[in-house]
Amino acid sequence: MSMKSAALAALASAYRLNGLEAVPSIVRATKPEFGDLQCNDIMRLTKAAGKTTRELATSIAVAARNDVFDDVSVAGPGFVNFRLSDETIAAEATAMLRDPALGVEKEAPIRTVIDFGGPNVAKALHVGHLRSFVIGESLRRILAEIGHDVISDIHLGDWGLQMGKLLYGAATASGWQHGDPVPFIKLFSFDEMSVEELGMLYKSGNAATEDDTALAVARSLTNMLQDGHPILTAAWKRMREISVDAVSATAERLGAHFDLFLGESDAHSEVAPMLDDLVSRGLAHESDGALVIDISDEGLPENVPPLLLRKSDGAALYGTTDLATLRQRARDIGAQQIIYCTDDRQALHIGSVFSAARSAGYAHGIELRHVTFGTVRGWDGKPFKTRDGSAASLGDMIELALAKAAEKVKVEDSATAVGLGALKFADLSIPRKTGYVFDIDKMTSFEGRTGPYLQYAYARICSILDKAASAGIVPAAAVSVSHPLERAVLVECLWYPHSLSEAARQLEPFEIAERAYQVADTFSRFYADCAVLSGEDPPGRLATCKLVAQVIGKCLELLGMETVRRM
Ligand code: ARG
Repeated sequence: MSMKSAALAALASAYRLNGLEAVPSIVRATKPEFGDLQCNDIMRLTKAAGKTTRELATSIAVAARNDVFDDVSVAGPGFVNFRLSDETIAAEATAMLRDPALGVEKEAPIRTVIDFGGPNVAKALHVGHLRSFVIGESLRRILAEIGHDVISDIHLGDWGLQMGKLLYGAATASGWQHGDPVPFIKLFSFDEMSVEELGMLYKSGNAATEDDTALAVARSLTNMLQDGHPILTAAWKRMREISVDAVSATAERLGAHFDLFLGESDAHSEVAPMLDDLVSRGLAHESDGALVIDISDEGLPENVPPLLLRKSDGAALYGTTDLATLRQRARDIGAQQIIYCTDDRQALHIGSVFSAARSAGYAHGIELRHVTFGTVRGWDGKPFKTRDGSAASLGDMIELALAKAAEKVKVEDSATAVGLGALKFADLSIPRKTGYVFDIDKMTSFEGRTGPYLQYAYARICSILDKAASAGIVPAAAVSVSHPLERAVLVECLWYPHSLSEAARQLEPFEIAERAYQVADTFSRFYADCAVLSGEDPPGRLATCKLVAQVIGKCLELLGMETVRRM
């Protein structure tokens, strides 16, 4: 039974007794002096009942009383407040302590694909990818924890004109100036090439193709590649591998897991049949020589342009690939939900793809969701840059965090976990749509809403438990409530299942970060006032410590952070 369900059940029978047909709702009480839970329904139900709000609230409160609660009372104009009894709290906390899932009831599994940001081949991972990786990974863990069947796909940007530009850069680097560039694309030149060198090829290709003649060459290289030209395909594979290796290394460092390393190129074979399908059903039509699909502006700005599917020169576009990928995910993976984890600048693009997919019938029975997020800024308010003024690479940001942690953390073995934890927690401890300033000192501080604060809280409890163990004191098998602050910290723990289901429903890891922080912060107040090992009931208080460690540990795991036992 969750915190809410006991109160909901009591309300449901009180409503029935009072002849109300409404389905009750309950929220956490806004202030602890009001109790633990609060019902705000009565003001809206009064009219139908033919009583004053206060009268109705009072008879509901009286009817809802049972021994789960110490008190059910009316406050203000007609709020009904519930205060759980200490026995209820102790019983719920004990059940939680014994349950590896910490009281979470799994939901019916939904087959979910997470599209993880889609970094482009030959471009360095940058600050935007930090958020895709960190938020995406946390959502992957949250959704799996609540019982869904999650498949994560990196969705590499490995197709289209950008590949032609890259090949153009590769030919130029081997001395090509004019004529046929293909003989200048030498496979051996990619042996031992670093991802930075590959990035230089793309940069030079991209700069050179500002010129129209050069751009035409890049276009024809793109077309040849997409038609399966053997040398270009082999070169492209090598370059893709270099990028995949680099992305995998960074992802591994950050603890982000991709089940699939597919990319835009994997949708290529789907494009022609999909366009045939759309044309034959009259959904796609010609417009100025191009093929487009109209989209409705529901949830999008007014007069959104149609989604371009094929340009007049025959080239497929970004939206075409996304639509084709969506169709594949529905058919081959059986996706029931697809989550796109990219920043808010892609909102129009992703929204247009969703709309096209719905009108084409490709999204039938599939929930499509765009998890947007705000920008990581520097002090100047612009996207975060490194000291030399260039856009920060993800590698730079990781290095900064690790270096700061190494300065601050005494236990060497823990420094990496703390540095990465600081970086991740800073990203997840605010609602994702909000951007934030990349402030390395603040995020690595041991105080406030930070990763190190939480990792430290966890480590401290571990050391209390270790100390007890070496003195032969074992935590009690049942939790008890012996002090108001012990009650308070247990209540914070009991909200965990609710936070998890909200995090999953809103696709919002912040709910978990906030739960961890509230538990840790209340614990530190409890620990400051209540003796554990030297008090009257060490085993009882140790049981509380153990539950707190379990909840904080689980939250950190769901945020993709490592716990350390010493720091
Ligand atoms: N490759 C794109 C880019 O960097 C992002 C792709 C996002 N994912 C997607 N399914 N469109 O710029």
